[in-house]
Amino acid sequence: MTSRFIPIHPQNDSPLLSLRSDIHTPARGILMDRLQRPLRDLRISVTDRCNFRCVYCMPSAVFDQNYPYLPHKDLLTFEEITRLARLLVAHGVTKIRLTGGEPLLRKNLDRLVGMLRQIDTPDGTPLDLTLTTNGALLAQKAQQLKDAGLNRVTVSLDALDDAVFKKMNDVDFSVSEVLNGIDVAHQIGLGPIKINMVVKAGMNEHQIIPMARHFKTSPHILRFIEYMDVGDSNGWQMDDVISSQQIIHQISQSSPDMQLVALEPNYRSETAQRWRYRDGGGEVGVISSVTQSFCRDCTRLRLSTEGKLYTCLFAGHGHEIRALLRGNADDADISNALAYVWQMRGDRYSELRGQQNSPTKKVEMSYIGG
Ligand code: GTP
Ligand code: 5AD
Ligand code: SF4
Ligand code: SF4
Repeated sequence: MTSRFIPIHPQNDSPLLSLRSDIHTPARGILMDRLQRPLRDLRISVTDRCNFRCVYCMPSAVFDQNYPYLPHKDLLTFEEITRLARLLVAHGVTKIRLTGGEPLLRKNLDRLVGMLRQIDTPDGTPLDLTLTTNGALLAQKAQQLKDAGLNRVTVSLDALDDAVFKKMNDVDFSVSEVLNGIDVAHQIGLGPIKINMVVKAGMNEHQIIPMARHFKTSPHILRFIEYMDVGDSNGWQMDDVISSQQIIHQISQSSPDMQLVALEPNYRSETAQRWRYRDGGGEVGVISSVTQSFCRDCTRLRLSTEGKLYTCLFAGHGHEIRALLRGNADDADISNALAYVWQMRGDRYSELRGQQNSPTKKVEMSYIGG
C-alpha cells in the first residue's frame, strides 16, 4: 500500500481534505462515524432544479430566473454517480434515495436507476432503491422507472385543497395531477407509497385533518413533517413550526374514528414516528426533526448534484469528491476517501439546534435533496 497524500481540492466552500491512502480502511465492511453510527442510507441529488417553488424550500423571490443553478458540465454523470454508489454500498449502504430539486427533471433518470439496480451488495440482498418526487411528472414516468428497477416512491403533497396547495407550490399546480401520479405509481407497483406533507403555520395546518382523512382509507402512508430551518432562504422561524405532538393531538381529537395508537419503529434510524388508527385504518407518520431530533441514529450520507458529500442536512460545507472521480484516482483511493469522510463525521445539528452557532451559510434543501 502506498503512503501518498490524496488531496481533495477545495472548491467553493469545501475544505481541503488531505487523505492518506495508507490509512487502513477496509474497502468492505460497516463504517462507523465518531458517534458510532453506521453508514446505511445514501441520498443522491440528481438536479438542483425544480418545477415547483414551495414556499418552505425554493421561495420564488430567491429562486428566480437569475438564480445561479449548476451548469450541466458540473453535474456528476450517471457513470460517476454509480461508481460512488457502488463503493458506498461496499461500505454498508443498503438504501439509495434519488432526490433533487425534482429528480424527475433529470433526463433519462431511468437509465441511472437501471445502473444502480445492477450494484451488488456484500450479502446479496437487493438495494432498497427509492425516489422522492413532487409528483408532477410521476404519471408519465412511473412505468419506465419501475421497469428500470425502482422499488418505490415518496410523493410530496402539502394540501388537498387546490387553493392552499397552489399557494404552497407557488406555480399553480393542482392537487388532482399529484393524486393521479400517486394512483398510477400505486397501480404499477411502486409501493408502499409514502406521502410527505410539510406543515407550515399559517399556510396549511387546517389541511392536516382533510389530508389525514383522505389517506386513512388508502394504501399509502401519510407523514407530517415539521417545517425545518434548512438552508438560508426560506425565512424560517420557530413560530412557523407546528409540532408533531400538536399534529397527533389534533388528529386524535378531531373525531372518535381518528384516534391514533403509537407503533414500534420499522428500523432503528427511521425518521418518522409511526402511528395507526385505533379503528384499523391506515398508518400515519410524524417527522419531528425540530422538536424531537433523531440525530442519534442518523445513518444518512448525501451526495450533491455536483459531487460533494454532505454528512448532515444542515452542513455548511460538503466534501468535494468530483475532483477525485475526474482525476486518476483508482477505486481504492476513492473508497478510502469515502471512508474517511464518514469516519470523521460527528454531526448532530438538530440535537444542538439553538445551543450552538449555526454554520454561517447552510446548504439549500433543493441542492442537497430532502
Ligand atoms: P423511508 O423510511 O425509506 O421511506 O425514508 P425516510 O423516512 O428517510 O423518508 P424521506 O426520505 O421521505 O424523508 C422525509 C423527510 O424527513 C425529508 O423530506 C426531510 O424533511 C426529513 N429528513 C429526512 N432525513 C433527514 C435527516 O437526516 N435529518 C433531518 N433533520 N431531517 C430529515
Ligand atoms: N422543512 C421540512 N421539509 C422540507 N422539505 C423541503 N424543505 C423542507 C423544510 N424546510 C422536504 C419535504 C419535501 C422534500 C422534497 O423535502 O419533505 O417533501
Ligand atoms: Fe421542489 Fe420538493 Fe423543494 Fe417543493 S420541496 S420546491 S417540490 S424540491
Ligand atoms: Fe442527521 Fe444532521 Fe438530520 Fe441530525 S440534523 S438527523 S445529523 S442529517
